[in-house]
Formats: sequence, C-alpha cells, structure tokens
Amino acid sequence: MKSSIFTQDTAFKKHVAEGLSAKSKFLSSRYFYDKKGDAIFQQIMAMPEYYLTNSEMEIFTEQATDIISAFGMKKDQPFELIELGAGDGTKTVKLLTALENQNYTFEYLPVDISENALTQLKDALSIQLPELRINPKQGEYFKILQELLTSDKPKIILFIGSNLGNMSDEIANTFLQSLSSYLKKQDKILLGLDLIKSADIVLPAYNDPTGITRDFNLNLLTRINRELGGNFNIQHFSHQAEYSEETGITKSFIKSNIAQKVTITSINKTFDFDKNELIHTEISRKYNDSILNMVLGGTNLSVIQKFTDQKGYFTDFLLKKN
Ligand code: AVI
Repeated sequence: MKSSIFTQDTAFKKHVAEGLSAKSKFLSSRYFYDKKGDAIFQQIMAMPEYYLTNSEMEIFTEQATDIISAFGMKKDQPFELIELGAGDGTKTVKLLTALENQNYTFEYLPVDISENALTQLKDALSIQLPELRINPKQGEYFKILQELLTSDKPKIILFIGSNLGNMSDEIANTFLQSLSSYLKKQDKILLGLDLIKSADIVLPAYNDPTGITRDFNLNLLTRINRELGGNFNIQHFSHQAEYSEETGITKSFIKSNIAQKVTITSINKTFDFDKNELIHTEISRKYNDSILNMVLGGTNLSVIQKFTDQKGYFTDFLLKKN
C-alpha cells in the first residue's frame, strides 16, 4: 500500500507543479476528492440548486422497471451489474431493489478507488437489501475490468451521476473506447448525463448562494497546503463558475483576489498570481444527442434507449456494444 500512496503523492506533486507553472494555470478536479472533498460533495448532492441528483433519482425511482427490461436479461440468466464510481449508492439502490423484487439473478459489483466508500456502501446495503449478492472491488476502473474479463457472464456497466461530464470530449471518447474494449457483444452501459439547458438553471448548481461549491473548489488549495506544504491563504482566493449555453460546458475556476506569491515547499517552488488571475479546476459538460454521438465516435457503442426525467434535465442513456 505504501508504494501506491507514494505514487499518488508523486503524481499530485507533478500535476500541481505543471498546472501552476502553465501560462493559463490549471488544476484537475480529480484531486477534489480527499476525505473532506467527499464530504462536501455529499452536501452538494443534497443542495436544492444541484438539480442533477433529484433528476436522476426521479429516473431511477419512476422508470426502474423500464430500465430493467431494456437490459434485456432473462430472469434466470446470471449477469453482473458493475458500477464504476459507486459512491453512496442512493440512486442505485432503487434499481437493485427493483431487480430483486422481480427475481433477477445478478451480482452487484461496485467499483471505487476508496475502500472506505465501499465499506460504507456494503454495510448500508446489507441492511437495506440483505439478500443482495454484492462483491465490492477496490481499485482503478480499468484494472478491475481487466480482472472481470475472465467471467463470461453478460455485463451491465453503470456509469451514472454525470461523471463523464468531468472529462473533456477527447478524454471522454478515449475513456469510452477503453471501456468498450472490456465488453463483449450485447453487454450494455447505463450512462447518466446532464443535458444542455438554460444558464439560469445550470449556474446556481455550480455557484450556490450558501458557498458549499466554493468550499468544494477551494478545498483543493487546503489539500495542497496540507499534503504538499503549500502556504495558500484561502481568504485571498474565491470561486468562479461560468456556463455557455452554446457549448453546454460549465467551467469552474479559483480566482486570486489580489497579486500574491504562494510557496509549495515539497516541490521547492514559488508561484506568482496576478490580481484576478484564474486557475481552471473543473469542466462539467452538459450533453445532447449529437454531442453524445460525437463522443461515441469509434467506440463500437450505440444508444439503444433513453430515460429522461419529467423536466427534461437529465438522461440515462442505455448503450449497447455492437
Ligand atoms: C461529480 N461531478 C459529476 C460533479 C459535477 O456536477 O460536475 C462535481 C461537481 N462540481 C461542482 N459541483 C459538483
């Protein structure tokens, strides 16, 4: 375990050095999710402005039976339901309950990098669904999928919660190509994506009045201070979000409120910030059919069904490997 912590730490250092030395500074949202970041994200998901959670929850609650029949499994045919980035499972439990009530034969394999998240999920599900066959897998998505290749059971992959939206279109395409390469013909993916909509709905979700999203974004600086020996003064930075209805992309930034210098001892560097200079920290891409089809280019995956909430905010796309 020590070596992986060391590798992670080295990757973080390298990333921070690169991102803060760039002409347009950047840091990856991948590093939001330390213990504190996980907890703030739970708060975000409960915010009234963060419509994504309620929209996808409505789909899983109201349309579970339709989703399950679109999976196309026979009740006595064993299959694997693999969830990438399982989180707390509040939405998935709706689907699992419906599958159990309808007597499907399946095993649930939640995959997450966080052992802690998987233990909590397993404990919660053992109370809610004591009969469930659950086999949590801790590790990187593709490493686990490689392991799972040995099984010849049909697979349904869940990749929900708009997680693909945090990747650029190019990276999303590469990700889906890799994911597809681990699947056999007829295997399916349920992909939950936020849809392009007007700025007055999207922006408050990424810039709430209570400042929870600000804390989520700025926690990245606190993490650098703690883990890499930085001296960011959080008071001198603020959160900024922008959204373009044309491109459907939300961008989050950390803004330096004053001209200042920040030293990070573990990488032996001092960085200059101009007043109002931005660090780009996250993209949250919103989709429509044509953007999804573009991102699916060359993946051997195609959309076979769509499940959308009543407000038309969010869609879970069912994809099939051709
Ligand atoms: C995890 N991910 C889908 C969230 C999103 O909506 O992009 C992360 C987030 N960032 C700010 N608020 C929520």
